[in-house]
Amino acid sequence: MRCTVAIIGGTGVYDPNWVQDREERIVHTPFGEAALTLGTLKEAPAQSVAFMNRHGLGHAVPPHQINYRANLWALSEMGIRRVVATAAVGSLNVAMPPGSMVLVDQFLDFTKMRASTFFDGTDGSVVHTDMTDPYCPESRQRVFAAGQKEKAPIIMGGVYVTTEGPRFETPAEIRAYRLLGGDVVGMTSVPEVVLARELGLCYVTIAMVTNFAAGMVAGVLTHQEVLDVMAANQTRLRQILLRAVPELDRDDACAFCAKSRPQSGA
Ligand code: HPA
Repeated sequence: MRCTVAIIGGTGVYDPNWVQDREERIVHTPFGEAALTLGTLKEAPAQSVAFMNRHGLGHAVPPHQINYRANLWALSEMGIRRVVATAAVGSLNVAMPPGSMVLVDQFLDFTKMRASTFFDGTDGSVVHTDMTDPYCPESRQRVFAAGQKEKAPIIMGGVYVTTEGPRFETPAEIRAYRLLGGDVVGMTSVPEVVLARELGLCYVTIAMVTNFAAGMVAGVLTHQEVLDVMAANQTRLRQILLRAVPELDRDDACAFCAKSRPQSGA
C-alpha cells in the first residue's frame, strides 16, 4: 500500500492501537537501523500511515542519544513525503499554558553533541541548508485546520528552544531563553526538522505543552508530570491526527520543501 505520511511519536504517544494491519519494519540505513510500523489508521482503515517511536519502545532512548539520521533516512527510504511529529514541551509563554498544542514555526538550537546533518563533508562538498522557514508552512496549515475542526487549543506559530537534555533546564536558562524569544522548550526538534529539510521532506511538529518551564511556577519538574499531561491529551491528539493525515496524504511533498532540499556539491 502506498504510504506517504509518517507520524513520529514523541514522549507519551506510544499507543500501538492507533495502527492496525501492522507490519513492523527494521530499515537499514548508512547511519544504522531504524524501526517503524506500517499500517492503517484504526478509525480510518483506508488510510495508510507509518508510525515511528522517536524514543524507541518503552522510552528507552534519551533525546541526546536518538539516532535522528537513521530515523529520517529510513522514513525517506520508505517513500514518506510528509512527517507530522509530536513533541512534549515546557512553556515559556503564559499565552501557551499546559494543554496547548503549538505548531511551531521557528527554532533556537542549544544542542551540543548530536549528528545534525547528512552533509558532514565526508564527500568533499560543503552544503548550507536554508532554514528561513524550517517547518513546512503548507503542512502546518493543514494540521492547524484539523485542530480547529476538533476545537483543540491549537496555536499557530511559536519558537521551539531545543536543549541537549536529558536534564531539564534551570530557571536561569529559562529566563534567558525567554529573553531570546523562545516560546516552548523541548529536547528533540533539532536536528529532526533540519534532517527532514535536508531530505526534502515536509515536516511539522505539534508541540504539546505539558508544563510551565522550570522556575515559572512553584515546585520541581518531573518526567511523570510530562507523561500525565500527555496521557490526558491523547484522545484529542489522536482526533487531530485522524483528520490531518488524509489531508497531508493528498499530494506529495509541497513545492516549497522539495525545492528547499539542498544539492550536494555546492
Ligand atoms: N523542558 C524540556 N523538555 C520538556 C519539558 C521541559 O520543561 N517538558 C516536556 N519536555
